[in-house]
Amino acid sequence: MMSSKNKKSITLEKILFSQGFGTRRYCSHLIMAELVQVNGEIIDDPEQLISTENLILSVEDQVWPFHEKAYLVFHKPPNYECSHKTKHHPSVYNLLPAPLIERGIQCVGRLDQDTTGLLLLSDDGQFIHQMTTPKKNIGKAYEITTAEPITPHQIECLLKGVVLDDDPTPCLAIQCSQEGERKVVMTIVEGRYHQVKRMLVAVGNHVDKLHRRSIGNYHLPMSLKEGEWQWLSPENINELYGRITSLTTDND
Ligand code: URA
Repeated sequence: MMSSKNKKSITLEKILFSQGFGTRRYCSHLIMAELVQVNGEIIDDPEQLISTENLILSVEDQVWPFHEKAYLVFHKPPNYECSHKTKHHPSVYNLLPAPLIERGIQCVGRLDQDTTGLLLLSDDGQFIHQMTTPKKNIGKAYEITTAEPITPHQIECLLKGVVLDDDPTPCLAIQCSQEGERKVVMTIVEGRYHQVKRMLVAVGNHVDKLHRRSIGNYHLPMSLKEGEWQWLSPENINELYGRITSLTTDND
Protein backbone atom coordinates (compact mmCIF):
# COMPACT_ATOMS: atom_id res chain seq x y z
CA MET A 1 0.00 0.00 0.00
CA MET A 2 2.54 2.61 1.01
CA SER A 3 5.86 0.92 0.20
CA SER A 4 6.92 2.36 -3.17
CA LYS A 5 5.72 5.89 -2.42
CA ASN A 6 7.52 5.97 0.94
CA LYS A 7 10.94 5.68 -0.64
CA LYS A 8 11.07 9.19 -2.04
CA SER A 9 13.09 12.16 -0.76
CA ILE A 10 11.32 15.46 -0.14
CA THR A 11 12.39 18.74 1.41
CA LEU A 12 12.03 18.83 5.19
CA GLU A 13 9.71 21.82 4.98
CA LYS A 14 7.30 19.90 2.69
CA ILE A 15 7.44 16.86 4.92
CA LEU A 16 6.51 18.85 8.00
CA PHE A 17 3.71 20.58 6.11
CA SER A 18 2.37 17.20 4.88
CA GLN A 19 2.22 15.91 8.47
CA GLY A 20 0.06 18.83 9.64
CA PHE A 21 2.55 21.01 11.50
CA GLY A 22 1.24 24.26 10.01
CA THR A 23 1.74 26.39 6.92
CA ARG A 24 4.87 25.97 4.77
CA ARG A 25 6.18 29.25 6.18
CA TYR A 26 5.53 28.18 9.79
CA CYS A 27 7.20 24.80 9.18
CA SER A 28 10.20 26.61 7.73
CA HIS A 29 10.45 28.75 10.89
CA LEU A 30 10.26 25.67 13.12
CA ILE A 31 13.14 24.10 11.18
CA MET A 32 15.33 27.22 11.21
CA ALA A 33 14.68 27.61 14.95
CA GLU A 34 16.26 24.14 15.38
CA LEU A 35 13.03 22.71 16.76
CA VAL A 36 12.93 19.78 14.33
CA GLN A 37 14.89 16.56 14.53
CA VAL A 38 15.15 13.97 11.78
CA ASN A 39 15.86 10.49 13.12
CA GLY A 40 17.37 12.09 16.24
CA GLU A 41 19.47 14.76 14.47
CA ILE A 42 18.62 18.48 14.36
CA ILE A 43 18.31 19.73 10.77
CA ASP A 44 18.02 23.51 10.36
CA ASP A 45 17.75 23.75 6.57
CA PRO A 46 14.11 23.71 5.35
CA GLU A 47 15.25 22.75 1.83
CA GLN A 48 17.25 19.70 2.86
CA LEU A 49 16.08 16.57 1.06
CA ILE A 50 15.03 13.82 3.46
CA SER A 51 14.06 10.22 2.72
CA THR A 52 10.60 9.45 4.08
CA GLU A 53 11.38 5.77 4.56
CA ASN A 54 11.28 4.80 8.26
CA LEU A 55 11.41 8.50 9.07
CA ILE A 56 10.90 9.56 12.68
CA LEU A 57 10.52 13.29 13.20
CA SER A 58 10.60 15.16 16.44
CA VAL A 59 8.88 18.53 16.36
CA GLU A 60 9.17 20.71 19.45
CA ASP A 61 9.92 17.51 21.39
CA GLN A 62 6.86 15.70 20.00
CA VAL A 63 8.00 12.42 18.44
CA TRP A 64 6.17 11.93 15.14
CA PRO A 65 6.62 8.92 12.82
CA PHE A 66 6.11 10.00 9.20
CA HIS A 67 2.95 8.66 7.57
CA GLU A 68 2.20 9.58 3.98
CA LYS A 69 -1.49 8.98 4.73
CA ALA A 70 -3.03 8.80 8.18
CA TYR A 71 -4.94 5.67 9.20
CA LEU A 72 -5.88 5.51 12.87
CA VAL A 73 -7.92 3.47 15.27
CA PHE A 74 -9.57 5.32 18.14
CA HIS A 75 -11.44 3.85 21.10
CA LYS A 76 -14.44 6.14 21.23
CA PRO A 77 -15.69 6.98 24.71
CA PRO A 78 -19.38 7.74 25.39
CA ASN A 79 -20.62 11.34 25.31
CA TYR A 80 -18.51 12.48 22.36
CA GLU A 81 -19.82 13.39 18.92
CA CYS A 82 -18.14 12.35 15.67
CA SER A 83 -18.44 15.81 14.18
CA HIS A 84 -16.41 19.00 13.94
CA LYS A 85 -19.50 21.11 14.64
CA THR A 86 -21.02 19.38 17.63
CA LYS A 87 -24.47 20.06 19.05
CA HIS A 88 -24.55 18.77 22.63
CA HIS A 89 -21.26 17.05 23.47
CA PRO A 90 -17.57 17.63 22.84
CA SER A 91 -16.04 16.38 19.61
CA VAL A 92 -13.92 13.25 19.27
CA TYR A 93 -11.50 15.46 17.33
CA ASN A 94 -10.70 17.26 20.64
CA LEU A 95 -9.07 14.02 21.83
CA LEU A 96 -6.58 13.82 18.94
CA PRO A 97 -3.29 15.68 18.38
CA ALA A 98 -3.47 18.98 16.48
CA PRO A 99 -1.34 17.86 13.46
CA LEU A 100 -3.89 15.13 12.67
CA ILE A 101 -6.72 17.67 12.65
CA GLU A 102 -4.63 20.10 10.59
CA ARG A 103 -4.03 17.48 7.91
CA GLY A 104 -7.76 16.84 7.67
CA ILE A 105 -8.46 13.44 9.17
CA GLN A 106 -12.13 12.47 9.16
CA CYS A 107 -14.14 9.80 10.94
CA VAL A 108 -14.71 6.76 8.73
CA GLY A 109 -18.47 6.60 9.29
CA ARG A 110 -19.92 8.05 12.45
CA LEU A 111 -20.85 6.49 15.76
CA ASP A 112 -23.64 8.02 17.84
CA GLN A 113 -22.61 10.09 20.84
CA ASP A 114 -23.55 7.28 23.26
CA THR A 115 -21.91 4.49 21.21
CA THR A 116 -18.45 3.34 22.27
CA GLY A 117 -15.71 1.34 20.60
CA LEU A 118 -13.89 1.05 17.33
CA LEU A 119 -13.74 4.24 15.30
CA LEU A 120 -11.44 4.63 12.30
CA LEU A 121 -10.10 7.98 11.17
CA SER A 122 -8.16 8.81 8.02
CA ASP A 123 -7.21 11.55 5.57
CA ASP A 124 -7.38 9.13 2.63
CA GLY A 125 -10.65 9.71 0.76
CA GLN A 126 -10.40 6.46 -1.21
CA PHE A 127 -9.97 4.46 2.00
CA ILE A 128 -12.91 6.23 3.67
CA HIS A 129 -15.10 5.46 0.67
CA GLN A 130 -14.08 1.81 0.54
CA MET A 131 -14.69 1.29 4.25
CA THR A 132 -18.14 2.86 4.18
CA THR A 133 -19.67 1.68 0.90
CA PRO A 134 -21.99 -1.31 1.38
CA LYS A 135 -20.72 -2.58 -2.02
CA LYS A 136 -17.53 -3.81 -0.34
CA ASN A 137 -19.47 -5.99 2.11
CA ILE A 138 -17.22 -5.02 4.99
CA GLY A 139 -18.91 -6.16 8.18
CA LYS A 140 -19.13 -3.94 11.24
CA ALA A 141 -19.77 -5.95 14.40
CA TYR A 142 -21.63 -4.38 17.32
CA GLU A 143 -22.11 -5.65 20.87
CA ILE A 144 -25.62 -4.70 21.83
CA THR A 145 -27.08 -4.64 25.32
CA THR A 146 -30.85 -4.67 24.95
CA ALA A 147 -33.52 -3.22 27.24
CA GLU A 148 -35.64 -6.40 27.05
CA PRO A 149 -34.47 -10.02 26.93
CA ILE A 150 -33.67 -10.91 23.34
CA THR A 151 -35.76 -13.72 21.82
CA PRO A 152 -34.88 -16.29 19.11
CA HIS A 153 -37.67 -14.77 16.99
CA GLN A 154 -36.06 -11.32 17.20
CA ILE A 155 -32.71 -12.75 16.09
CA GLU A 156 -34.43 -14.53 13.20
CA CYS A 157 -36.09 -11.26 12.10
CA LEU A 158 -32.78 -9.36 12.26
CA LEU A 159 -31.15 -11.99 10.06
CA LYS A 160 -34.06 -12.09 7.60
CA GLY A 161 -34.23 -8.30 7.36
CA VAL A 162 -36.43 -5.58 8.77
CA VAL A 163 -37.95 -2.54 7.07
CA LEU A 164 -37.03 0.80 8.59
CA ASP A 165 -39.42 3.74 8.33
CA ASP A 166 -37.42 5.82 5.79
CA ASP A 167 -36.60 3.10 3.23
CA PRO A 168 -38.63 0.14 1.95
CA THR A 169 -35.44 -1.87 1.20
CA PRO A 170 -35.02 -4.34 4.08
CA CYS A 171 -32.04 -3.94 6.32
CA LEU A 172 -30.44 -7.14 7.54
CA ALA A 173 -27.78 -8.47 9.82
CA ILE A 174 -25.22 -10.72 8.12
CA GLN A 175 -24.49 -12.32 11.48
CA CYS A 176 -26.38 -12.19 14.75
CA SER A 177 -25.77 -14.28 17.82
CA GLN A 178 -26.92 -14.17 21.40
CA GLU A 179 -24.22 -13.83 24.05
CA GLY A 180 -26.43 -13.31 27.11
CA GLU A 181 -30.05 -12.73 28.08
CA ARG A 182 -29.79 -9.10 26.97
CA LYS A 183 -26.64 -9.27 24.95
CA VAL A 184 -26.36 -9.83 21.24
CA VAL A 185 -23.56 -9.40 18.71
CA MET A 186 -24.71 -8.30 15.31
CA THR A 187 -22.77 -7.63 12.10
CA ILE A 188 -24.06 -5.28 9.41
CA VAL A 189 -22.49 -3.99 6.20
CA GLU A 190 -24.51 -0.82 5.67
CA GLY A 191 -24.25 2.34 7.73
CA ARG A 192 -27.73 3.82 7.71
CA TYR A 193 -28.63 6.51 10.21
CA HIS A 194 -28.97 4.97 13.73
CA GLN A 195 -29.20 1.65 11.91
CA VAL A 196 -28.58 -0.76 14.79
CA LYS A 197 -30.87 1.10 17.19
CA ARG A 198 -33.65 1.29 14.61
CA MET A 199 -33.32 -2.40 13.68
CA LEU A 200 -33.73 -3.36 17.33
CA VAL A 201 -36.80 -1.15 17.65
CA ALA A 202 -38.20 -2.72 14.46
CA VAL A 203 -38.11 -6.18 16.10
CA GLY A 204 -39.76 -4.92 19.30
CA ASN A 205 -36.72 -4.37 21.51
CA HIS A 206 -34.52 -1.38 22.37
CA VAL A 207 -30.78 -0.71 22.55
CA ASP A 208 -29.48 0.16 26.01
CA LYS A 209 -25.77 0.12 25.17
CA LEU A 210 -23.92 -0.09 21.89
CA HIS A 211 -20.25 -0.86 21.36
CA ARG A 212 -18.49 -1.50 18.02
CA ARG A 213 -16.01 -4.34 18.45
CA SER A 214 -14.69 -4.96 14.92
CA ILE A 215 -14.62 -3.94 11.29
CA GLY A 216 -13.82 -6.64 8.73
CA ASN A 217 -11.36 -8.96 10.46
CA TYR A 218 -9.87 -6.16 12.53
CA HIS A 219 -10.77 -6.03 16.24
CA LEU A 220 -10.48 -3.08 18.57
CA PRO A 221 -7.23 -3.82 20.44
CA MET A 222 -7.82 -4.82 24.08
CA SER A 223 -4.87 -2.61 25.09
CA LEU A 224 -6.49 0.54 23.72
CA LYS A 225 -8.40 2.31 26.50
CA GLU A 226 -11.37 4.62 25.92
CA GLY A 227 -10.12 7.92 24.49
CA GLU A 228 -6.84 6.44 23.22
CA TRP A 229 -5.75 6.10 19.59
CA GLN A 230 -2.95 4.47 17.61
CA TRP A 231 -1.69 4.29 14.02
CA LEU A 232 -2.93 1.34 11.99
CA SER A 233 -0.24 -0.86 10.47
CA PRO A 234 -0.48 -2.12 6.86
CA GLU A 235 -1.39 -5.54 8.35
CA ASN A 236 -4.26 -3.97 10.30
CA ILE A 237 -5.51 -2.34 7.09
CA ASN A 238 -5.51 -5.67 5.30
CA GLU A 239 -7.52 -7.09 8.21
CA LEU A 240 -10.07 -4.30 7.78
CA TYR A 241 -10.54 -5.21 4.14
CA GLY A 242 -10.74 -8.91 4.83
CA ARG A 243 -10.07 -10.44 1.44
CA ILE A 244 -8.54 -7.32 -0.19
CA THR A 245 -4.76 -7.23 0.17
CA SER A 246 -3.80 -3.78 -1.09
CA LEU A 247 -5.39 -0.35 -1.51
CA THR A 248 -3.63 0.14 -4.84
CA THR A 249 -4.95 -3.07 -6.37
CA ASP A 250 -8.55 -1.98 -6.07
CA ASN A 251 -9.78 1.19 -7.70
CA ASP A 252 -13.49 0.89 -6.98
N1 URA B 1 -25.97 2.03 14.62
C1 URA B 1 -26.50 2.88 15.52
O1 URA B 1 -27.69 2.88 15.75
N2 URA B 1 -25.66 3.71 16.17
C2 URA B 1 -24.30 3.73 15.98
O2 URA B 1 -23.60 4.51 16.61
C3 URA B 1 -23.80 2.83 15.03
C4 URA B 1 -24.64 1.99 14.38
